[in-house]
Amino acid sequence: MNQITFASSNVSKFKEVDAFLGKYNIKVNLFRVELREIQSDSLEEIATEKAVAAYGIIKEKLIVEDTGLFIHALNDFPGSYSSFVLRTIGNIGILELLSSKTDRSATFKTVIAFNNGASTRIFTGTVSGVISPVIAKDGWGYDPIFIPLGHDGKVYIKTYGEMSIERKNVISHRSQALRKFIEWYTELI
Ligand code: IMP
Repeated sequence: MNQITFASSNVSKFKEVDAFLGKYNIKVNLFRVELREIQSDSLEEIATEKAVAAYGIIKEKLIVEDTGLFIHALNDFPGSYSSFVLRTIGNIGILELLSSKTDRSATFKTVIAFNNGASTRIFTGTVSGVISPVIAKDGWGYDPIFIPLGHDGKVYIKTYGEMSIERKNVISHRSQALRKFIEWYTELI
């Protein structure tokens, strides 16, 4: 079985990555580390820098990821500042900011960055959806307020928070980035 290290402080992300890559017979080892993030509007830049920093610590091939929620009526806020915004105003604050808006559409985006000490490669996944008017009681991060669009273009009734990991992994921004990564990685190994 092939192995890859996932450097992250977020166990919820790890569970999704592990469930997804496990289906491709890849064992994911979580290296728990709080990587300092550069300030940038670009998830690609942040993920690339995180991958280089993580390789400097771990010294073996690895993946990291960076994710953002882009709310269109708020000019793509919080975007690359999603972590800070969740810690400060939280999902309640997001719903308050949207209370006077009719457009509740948003995009979730993940950038996976692979680094092997020689170079970095990035893989991107996005999902369109809407921000729910109420906060679901289950789920982590923004999952309780994000309702994804289906492949048929119809809005699901459920937020990510109300889906199992397996269900979320069929459609999510993270799984789409991982799918691109695994297509490339299986050629490499
Ligand atoms: P990070 O900077 O990539 O760790 O993520 C930015 C923020 O988005 C953090 O507060 C995460 O908890 C949140 N987040 C990242 N991915 C997801 C997701 O798949 N669902 C819900 N929230 C997420």
